[in-house]
Amino acid sequence: MRSLIDIMQLTTAEIDELVALGSDIIANPEKYAHKCDGKILATLFFEPSTRTRLSFESAMLSLGGKVLGFSEASSSSAAKGESVADTIRTVGCYADIIAMRHPKEGAPLVASMNTSVPVINAGDGGHNHPTQTLTDLLTIHHEKGHFDNLTVGLCGDLKFGRTVHSLIAAMSRYTGTKFVLISPEELKVPSYVKETYIKKNNIPYEQVTDLEEAMPKLDILYMTRVQRERFFNEEDYLRLKDSYILTPDKLKTAKKDLTILHPLPRVNEISVAVDDDPRAAYFRQVRYGRFIRMALILTLLGLN
Ligand code: NCD
Repeated sequence: MRSLIDIMQLTTAEIDELVALGSDIIANPEKYAHKCDGKILATLFFEPSTRTRLSFESAMLSLGGKVLGFSEASSSSAAKGESVADTIRTVGCYADIIAMRHPKEGAPLVASMNTSVPVINAGDGGHNHPTQTLTDLLTIHHEKGHFDNLTVGLCGDLKFGRTVHSLIAAMSRYTGTKFVLISPEELKVPSYVKETYIKKNNIPYEQVTDLEEAMPKLDILYMTRVQRERFFNEEDYLRLKDSYILTPDKLKTAKKDLTILHPLPRVNEISVAVDDDPRAAYFRQVRYGRFIRMALILTLLGLN
């Protein structure tokens, strides 16, 4: 048994296996309905969440398992000053697998070092979000049929957006990937992400501020929310929050088979008028999140 802290712990072959398992679960859910009978998932969410926590819980319940946990730090002993290490030592006595979200980068890694139970990083600060990336990959697989030769535009808060960092890492391993990084000057991709994944692999990339200029080239457009909770001051947030708003008008120059993704929650960055466009895949993406998490739970528990 092992933990999933960073998407790069998985080889592309292992990602293919998870995608295949997720797809089989979608096609044959009854085959998997009792695979986790008697198993318990703990969801420890020290930060707000709708999709990630509920999809983990839905995933475990759909596998026949049970769930327990908390959805805010204030209702756990963290509010009394307990360390992550002590919390995890405790929860490891109550659960077979743990999904944890924390505002501090590296907290799930520390957690995984303090228990023998697998720990899944459900988002750590502005760092990583590997299970959102698995969701994104299952979506891309179903929308596009392959991972190769895709020009991926990432738009919005590329600095603090943890889903962006994990997706860049994952996509940097496929043949023919190109990145178009679309952000305001202040919210560019951190240099460690650019160096480690993009430059080291000689991946063609552009950094631009204008979404409309990038639009015609893209196979995938990954929109993101400006991460208010990671800003040091509200003024900067207010100035940057509406940097990009995707509207039907802006999609006029886009490819006919563009795939529009968003990890959600959406604030203003995609107009609701875009939702009816067949290229808008972000609600289909939500659905895939449940099935890929079922595949991940089975795999980490050795029940696949
Ligand atoms: C993302 C996250 O938490 O990083 N949400 C999610 O898990 N689907 C994106 C965000 O909060 O903007």
